[in-house]
Amino acid sequence: MRVEFLQTSPVFGKIKENVKKVAIKLNSIDASLVVLPELFSTGYQFKSKKEVSLLAEEVPQGWTSQRLIQIAKTKKIFIVAGIAEKHRGRFYNSSLFVGPKDFIGVYRKAHLFWNEKIFFSPGNTPFKVYNIGSAKIGMMICFDWLFPEAARVLALKGADIICHPSNLVLPHCPQAMITRCLENRVFAITANRVGVEHRIKGQKLKFIGQSEIVAPDGKMLCRASDNKEEAGIVEIDPRLARNKNITLLNNIFKDRRKKLYKPLL
Ligand code: ACM
Repeated sequence: MRVEFLQTSPVFGKIKENVKKVAIKLNSIDASLVVLPELFSTGYQFKSKKEVSLLAEEVPQGWTSQRLIQIAKTKKIFIVAGIAEKHRGRFYNSSLFVGPKDFIGVYRKAHLFWNEKIFFSPGNTPFKVYNIGSAKIGMMICFDWLFPEAARVLALKGADIICHPSNLVLPHCPQAMITRCLENRVFAITANRVGVEHRIKGQKLKFIGQSEIVAPDGKMLCRASDNKEEAGIVEIDPRLARNKNITLLNNIFKDRRKKLYKPLL
């Protein structure tokens, strides 16, 4: 199975332009699963709730979702993409999953980062795994990486590949995802963005790029630069994520001491 990330640099507020640019890249895609960054269509740094309300879209009825569905159907591919979602008067930082047949599902970011807490509601969708035949797919978004429970729950539910749209500004995640993959024996595709947004005085955001694809044994299969728009494509065997053994006597799931962890939960 060929999997890909697209590392982009969206222009804030220019949904049509940002989606069009991605659509052109997807026109010559040579992978069956592609992951786009968090908030890939809107950009990241909202200044007001009003701005969010003007740019957020319904999923899957909205223009961006419909455009991605159209591309997925035409190219016969699966796409995971970060989007600002409007739903029943609330706004979510969401990840959309579409495929060759239609809309598949949406995940709403559970762990909101910094000012996102002002503009978005915390996600209310459970961590879910989708079986697309060639692989079992789970989604988490950016800052979810800091909460090992997110990747763990996806892995326990059978995910082979964690798709991870991101807009990273802190330096730690590209290294940390190696651990998330190792401790869960899963693949992860982190699609980050590059560029700078400085829409709020004193809050300049530089996105760190370094989108990556990591294997269940922690091997870095592909890592992008920290400042260029680019794609990364890797051929993987998702079934490798189903072997949870570390040694002949260690299985990462069977070895869990659930009774000892209980008071923490
Ligand atoms: C982040 O969650 N966008 C850092």
